[in-house]
Amino acid sequence: MYIAMNRFIINEGHEDDFENIWRNRDSTLKEMPGFQTFHLLKGARNEETKQTLYASHTVWEDHEHFVSWINSEQFKNAHKKAGSNKGMYGGHPNFEGFDAVLSE
Ligand code: HEM
Repeated sequence: MYIAMNRFIINEGHEDDFENIWRNRDSTLKEMPGFQTFHLLKGARNEETKQTLYASHTVWEDHEHFVSWINSEQFKNAHKKAGSNKGMYGGHPNFEGFDAVLSE
């Protein structure tokens, strides 16, 4: 099992817009071999910066299937508009990927 997470810092006032982008997207994840689950996660709000942490969280059968998706037309299409909405983000997203060592 491989877990891919991309963390986003969202500026105050843009939380609903950010969530709606994900709600209204044309997702093709379900057609990708090895795809298991997707969650959009909302984390803590930082009371000093007023920003909120989110993460996109996908679970794949293994790292190879994730890499195939990253190199696919579907990934490219899903990110055509990812560079827009600059005022929404408090910085670049932060990617982290994990191979499961133990699953219980
Ligand atoms: C390795 C890096 C990345 C991973 C693993 C990742 C993961 C994902 C996933 C799982 C989706 C949903 C695709 C679907 O449902 O078909 C998605 C879409 C999206 N990603 Fe990424 N992403 C990455 C890089 C980025 C970057 C650099 C940005 C820059 C802001 C970004 C912003 C977005 C946005 C805004 C969407 C929604 C697209 C839309 O419908 O407009 N992602 N990403």
